[in-house]
Amino acid sequence: MTSPIVFALDFPSVDEARAAAAEVAPAVGMIKVGLELFVHAGPAVMSVGRDVGLPVFLDLKLHDIPETVERAVAQASHLGARLVTVHASGGRTMLRRAVERAEKEGGTLAVCAVTILTSLDDADLDDVGITVTRRLPAFKSVPDPRAHTTLAAESLAQLAYDEGVRWFVCSPAEVASLRRVLGSDAVLVTPGVRPAQSASGDQKRIATPEQAIRDGADWLVVGRPIRDASDRLAAARAISEAAMSAASSKEGAS
Ligand code: C5P
Repeated sequence: MTSPIVFALDFPSVDEARAAAAEVAPAVGMIKVGLELFVHAGPAVMSVGRDVGLPVFLDLKLHDIPETVERAVAQASHLGARLVTVHASGGRTMLRRAVERAEKEGGTLAVCAVTILTSLDDADLDDVGITVTRRLPAFKSVPDPRAHTTLAAESLAQLAYDEGVRWFVCSPAEVASLRRVLGSDAVLVTPGVRPAQSASGDQKRIATPEQAIRDGADWLVVGRPIRDASDRLAAARAISEAAMSAASSKEGAS
């Protein structure tokens, strides 16, 4: 079984990222390059994936007109990335063209949709004019009591799914509801994962690796609990083993 851990390479330089990726490579299944490292180093970061033999998740959160996003997706495919993130709020056409272009390029790239950033709450959505109320089917006049963030995440995920996206990033708080809404062929990637005794940092909605897997996550993005550990490989192994054992018990139970 491949480790379901995505190690977030949140480092200011390629050398530091390469050294850390090499340390943890035996215990993780993918590495994630975010904006900090990509703005700093550009496509040169892709050599880290090649050096350590792991697929690269380009977390660039693209959000632009369809033509621009499609062309950026083509470039991500040429770089050999495994995943690239796009904002689902970029709309139907943007999502469809991103997916179709990734397929047309014929590489390994898949498009992964970000729904509502976990840093936003209901008041933030209100500020930018996003309000979602859904009527509960049994009591049509009663608005769904769940947070707007959850409803908006579900409806954006559904939109992206309808346009062909099959990979999604979501918080541990939303993984169970997205699994229910999207079904079993969606691949759910969850950040905000913390081993039971570890510090949460600035992550608010966190889950242990076991809980996130039980709730339906396929991949867990982990940064600081591995990056800041005195023994990174041991930390990555412990998280990976916890997640894989939760996945095996789940498979056994179904
Ligand atoms: O250090 P930590 O484990 O919190 O790192 C999580 C990684 O996942 C970071 O690279 C962060 O940018 C990313 N991320 C997140 N929440 C999201 C999307 C991405 O924490 N909603």
